[in-house]
Amino acid sequence: MEIELLPPSADRAVIERITALVNHVYAESEKGLWQGNTDRTSADEVTALVRAGEIAVAFVDGDLAGSVRVQRLDDTTGEFGMLAADPARRGLGIGRELVRFAEQASRDAGCREMQLELLVPREWTHPAKQFLAQWYDRLGYRVTHRADLAVDYPHLAPSLATPCDFLVYRKALG
Ligand SMILES: CC(C)(COP(=O)(O)OP(=O)(O)OC[C@H]1O[C@@H](n2cnc3c(N)ncnc32)[C@H](O)[C@@H]1OP(=O)(O)O)[C@@H](O)C(=O)NCCC(=O)NCCS
Repeated sequence: MEIELLPPSADRAVIERITALVNHVYAESEKGLWQGNTDRTSADEVTALVRAGEIAVAFVDGDLAGSVRVQRLDDTTGEFGMLAADPARRGLGIGRELVRFAEQASRDAGCREMQLELLVPREWTHPAKQFLAQWYDRLGYRVTHRADLAVDYPHLAPSLATPCDFLVYRKALG
């Protein structure tokens, strides 16, 4: 497996494959949370993130197998999000290696803490979210903020299909 930060000049074809992968996996992992169009992202948004140097991708045997967004929130905090691994290659360590890459990139940029965000339904258990909460805990992330999404992001409230909590996880980068 090879993981690399995409150069700003990345091909439109690669951008479209990342967009399709992210939307495909989020359709499952956020199933039941949103009404109407559930696309997580668009090719235009991914293009802008690639130009900002924020998209890392994993290739397995030359094939795009995963992606993650890495950004710097402030002088000391990095964040990863939009993490996606090809469903046909789940459990092979692609997600874990993408998280490791995001953490190392943030460390290299001088960050001392890493952050991620998670949306969870408040009144029922979503298996994908339950898996993520347990996995992030194993990776050393702890919840530092929990709020009603409709309070933190009121403009998103009308799009929700069910009440959701917005969780922020943090971890010290050793
Ligand atoms: C989250 C995601 C990227 C993980 O990708 P992956 O490549 O399958 O993950 P890995 O192979 O690196 O495994 C991650 C962990 O899950 C465990 N795991 C993997 N498959 C598993 C399975 N079928 N059952 C139980 N645990 C499993 C692994 O043991 C590993 O745990 P460890 O690091 O403690 O050993 C992938 O499931 C995905 O794309 N999900 C949908 C999008 C999403 O929810 N993104 C995150 C939004 S915050």
